[in-house]
Amino acid sequence: MSKTSTLTDEQDALFRLLRQLDVTPDASQRAMAAALGISLGKLNAEVRAAQSAGFIKISERHGPDKRQRYAYALTPRGASEKNRLTNDFLKRKFEEYDALHAELTGTNTGLSPFSNRIKLMENNLAPIPELFVSYDSAQKMKHEAGELTSWDLTPRQICDLELLMNGGFNPLKGFLSEADYTSVVDTMRLSTGELWPMPITLDVSEDFAATIETGQDIALRDQEGVILGTMTVTDKWTPDKAHEAKMVFGADDSAHPAVNYLHNQAGKIYLGGPVTGIQQPVHYDFRGRRDTPNELRAYFRKLGWRRVVAFQTRNPLHRAHQELTFRAAKEAQANLLIHPVVGMTKPGDIDHFTRVRCYEAVLDQYPSSTTSMSLLNLAMRMAGPREAVWHGLIRKNHGCTHFIVGRDHAGPGKNSAGEDFYGPYDAQDLFREHQEEIGIEMVDFKHMVYVQDRAQYEPADEIMDKDDVTILNISGTELRRRLAEGLEIPEWFSFPAVVEELRKSRPPRANQGFTVFFTGFSGSGKSTIANALMVKLMEMGGRPVTLLDGDIVRKNLSSELGFSKEHRDLNIRRIGYVASEITKNGGIAICAPIAPYATTRRAVREEIEGFGAFIEVHVATSIEECERRDRKGLYKLAREGKIKEFTGISDPYDVPENPELRVETENVEVDNCAHQVILKLESMGLIKA
Ligand code: PPS
Repeated sequence: MSKTSTLTDEQDALFRLLRQLDVTPDASQRAMAAALGISLGKLNAEVRAAQSAGFIKISERHGPDKRQRYAYALTPRGASEKNRLTNDFLKRKFEEYDALHAELTGTNTGLSPFSNRIKLMENNLAPIPELFVSYDSAQKMKHEAGELTSWDLTPRQICDLELLMNGGFNPLKGFLSEADYTSVVDTMRLSTGELWPMPITLDVSEDFAATIETGQDIALRDQEGVILGTMTVTDKWTPDKAHEAKMVFGADDSAHPAVNYLHNQAGKIYLGGPVTGIQQPVHYDFRGRRDTPNELRAYFRKLGWRRVVAFQTRNPLHRAHQELTFRAAKEAQANLLIHPVVGMTKPGDIDHFTRVRCYEAVLDQYPSSTTSMSLLNLAMRMAGPREAVWHGLIRKNHGCTHFIVGRDHAGPGKNSAGEDFYGPYDAQDLFREHQEEIGIEMVDFKHMVYVQDRAQYEPADEIMDKDDVTILNISGTELRRRLAEGLEIPEWFSFPAVVEELRKSRPPRANQGFTVFFTGFSGSGKSTIANALMVKLMEMGGRPVTLLDGDIVRKNLSSELGFSKEHRDLNIRRIGYVASEITKNGGIAICAPIAPYATTRRAVREEIEGFGAFIEVHVATSIEECERRDRKGLYKLAREGKIKEFTGISDPYDVPENPELRVETENVEVDNCAHQVILKLESMGLIKA
């Protein structure tokens, strides 16, 4: 058989050297040469060559053992070169093995073609490649990476990095290069042609990017400063975000949570390059429920699960979900994996702690040994069709063979014109189109309804006697209303243990914390109304009330800040953070800053709505009236140019488009304005009438 391997002898020697250094980085030169079967002189030459190619780092050792003069370590580039060469090495081994087989059997063919062999290796139970280095190398790299320029990862980047490193995003080897990014955005494929629908990018600030040159290695740290991995920066570019939004999310419309993130949270510059994994991000919650792709594959192997249906979810499970998932598994003659996302979901979703406790309660409802649950630390983008394909690839990597795709899978809700971003079956259609390439079979999500006469759930489209039976269903909105108002949730709808968990985390609205966020020009009357509201709420009692007035915050929390856009944003985010903590702990936060920028107000809303209601009150006093009142004499100074960047005079104010309440103050008593807010709070069920 002819040799078709592309691995040259030189590459072979490099592979063996890098592998040896990775496995025994502390061995003496003599032991290293012996392990490689080469002379000390040759080892020296190879080591120097690898060093000048930037694959390894050599340092002097000052220990007592004179035979161990040098310490070696793979650089991140060396680690990724080793991974690349490993594949070529394997390929050559197969060819050699085939040639031997042909010689022994007298045939001129090998056992089976290489491509088939790879297919066999790629079934859902075989291990998949990770980006981690060995434990010993990781210890060394961690030490050395301490000297590299560091990027502190955002929560979303930490989720992405975890799945890059553990193989969840296989075949990606790092954050996308510019060529891969362009190709993914425009064609849903990497530049190699492989299917990959979601741009996984390392977005950074312009200031940080200015300190980085391509070819440089950087350390990637979590928010506590722990080094999780390193990246060799091969690409640095300014993306066309509007184009990315249109191609990936279907529209450049900030009502889409990922488009909003792209424009208002993500950094302006993208860096790309291969990643070397040092350690997994640390999770202290539900540790036993989190599995890497290889851990899940090993688990399925152990249990003999050859066919596995995955169910993706970001919501609590009720009886209908339990029925439909179990039916899906039965139809596919497979076991079931409940695979909920616990990384980042849609702003305003129920927190994952509550959801996981709910899932645990539902697990007991499945026949024993048929179903398992594992938590996925994915940062969702709510990209509908593209997201469904992405979810499929991720589940394939986690060893699943089937995947449930429902109506409006990973839907982001309405666009700014009040219409759905995607058609209800777009996700299923795109998935079906690429199913073979994804390598996982789609299972239809059946819409289950409760047939009261037969006291059981049935797929809505299979009920033949629709007109003769009573069909019951509770929508998500209705469920939220019942929880908010403390109303009954029937047993046919959910499991008592699930309802109990939900009630604990979402007590009736009248017992929850909330934030009233006043916004308007300086002198519009925000502080006065806020003060009156505070006193009225304290008179009612029941919950602690905190007033975060613009002036007071600037004295205490933000004394070093001025009025540039950057400083105003920081000021409002600080107020938002404090208000979210108050809301989370069941109190009432009243905020009264100018808060001139709509995007910042929206960010604060998203932060708070995870814990309780956010009521935006626009104090709509006109700029002319504020200037006429000029309580503090600031408008006069602003007109004279003595105060710069003054809101409404020389600085912008984005008028709120859809506030919960707009109050006019001209010719209206303060007491009346505060009363309007009280009435609004009552109508929302936040205070009892
Ligand atoms: S912001 O934009 O939300 O951070 O502003 P805020 O912290 O609410 O501002 C509080 C008070 O600062 C006074 N002040 C100015 N306002 C606007 N523009 C400029 N340049 C400025 N300089 C000082 C102003 O009195 C604000 O008080 P209020 O309570 O709104 O009248």
